[in-house]
Amino acid sequence: MEREKVTLTGAPETLLATLYGRALDSRAPRSVLHDEAAARAVERIDYDFRRTGITATTAAGVALRGRQLDAWTREFLDAHPEATVLHLACGLDTRTQRLATGPSVRWIDLDHPDVVALRERLLPPPAGDYRLVGASVTDDRWLQAVPADRPTVAVFEGLTMYLREEDGRRLIERITGRFPGGQLLFDCYGTIGIRLQKLVTAVRNSGATLHWGIDDPRELEAWHDGLVLLDALRSVDMPGLDLLPRAGRVEMRVLALLPKLRDVGRILRYRF
Ligand SMILES: C[S@@+](CC[C@H](N)C(=O)[O-])C[C@H]1O[C@@H](n2cnc3c(N)ncnc32)[C@H](O)[C@@H]1O
Repeated sequence: MEREKVTLTGAPETLLATLYGRALDSRAPRSVLHDEAAARAVERIDYDFRRTGITATTAAGVALRGRQLDAWTREFLDAHPEATVLHLACGLDTRTQRLATGPSVRWIDLDHPDVVALRERLLPPPAGDYRLVGASVTDDRWLQAVPADRPTVAVFEGLTMYLREEDGRRLIERITGRFPGGQLLFDCYGTIGIRLQKLVTAVRNSGATLHWGIDDPRELEAWHDGLVLLDALRSVDMPGLDLLPRAGRVEMRVLALLPKLRDVGRILRYRF
């Protein structure tokens, strides 16, 4: 089969790092996420994946973050079987396939138009009530096209750090202002992570710039009446870190002891 030449740059290029992380994890002896679709997609892409700098440890880290966000999404859908999922900055993530949602779930995958075009070539669309939208999350129009009739969970993994805070805030205000209720599930960098961004190989090599760091997740509660932080998990405390290779486990234990560095990344869950 002919491989797809990929020429993305900047933030869109970094989706190849997280995809590759899930692909490597699926081949690991103690795979976290078992995302075989990621491995198949990687085989179809003509790209030098060494540019991502992904190692066995960071691959397991990406997979653990994905597993946590999958688990929170599943919990939401168990409680609200008729719901809308906004999977923003989806890249080539096959979250909808991993969760195998039924026809009562309206699922929207969204990313930049060039990413969506690549996704259409590489990943078959799932059955059911599914839409793939090519737009920027900062654009107002796509959200107006989503019916506001159901509880809504917005999942955005690997997105907030690429946004400017004012754009992130507007996105959160627009989602929480439109739907009758729901949850926001996303990861963030702390400002220390933004300062150290050049140490992240995939960011450096793609030429992407990270802008928005969140040190106090409670501050966002003021952005919408009724927005409440439910969970703030530090990356260095994520469940399942025992699945990291030994060197990664040691690294995480050391980071967890360092007051500034332990806040380098978090996974957040809010309800509204
Ligand atoms: C690190 S990748 C994460 C992709 C996917 N969520 C994953 O975990 O594999 C960052 C993604 O954010 C997307 N992105 C960045 N800024 C965006 C914006 N303003 N609107 C839509 N997507 C955006 C990029 O195109 C890219 O797919």
